[in-house]
Amino acid sequence: MTQLTINGETREVAADPDTPLLWVLRDELGLTGTKYGCGVAQCGACTVHVDGEPIRSCSTAVSDVAGQTVSTIEGLSGKTAEAVMTAWETLDVPQCGYCQSGQVMSAVALLTANPKPSDADIDEAMQGNICRCATYVRIRAAIHAAAKTLEA
Ligand code: FES
Ligand code: FES
Repeated sequence: MTQLTINGETREVAADPDTPLLWVLRDELGLTGTKYGCGVAQCGACTVHVDGEPIRSCSTAVSDVAGQTVSTIEGLSGKTAEAVMTAWETLDVPQCGYCQSGQVMSAVALLTANPKPSDADIDEAMQGNICRCATYVRIRAAIHAAAKTLEA
């Protein structure tokens, strides 16, 4: 068994220690907001936070996060997360929506580390999150809008 803290709760998971965290989240814990895109750390759809840092859960063994704090889109809370989610809704960012939980997780991590990012900061922080619907312009605008809300 591997013990993890997920969205504030301590959970024991039975999966083999080499199992990617993504499959533990989705299949064992029912947290299906985290998506499978590529499986090889190239698209960002599976992004979650481990101790506040964005990581690709498709390429992280569950044993690598034993004892650490994992947050998924279902557990996002706090003023930065709220500002991001409100901006996403106000600016109608998603198209098909598939990539968006990963986008939001990366955006929250960015604004937590850097509350007033430049366009270049945003591009750098978000470059690992691919959107096949090309919502990049709205994502950037929503991050700026969330930063403004947090500034007020
Ligand atoms: S599914 Fe993990 S980066 Fe694509
Ligand atoms: S909104 Fe469709 S892949 Fe990003």
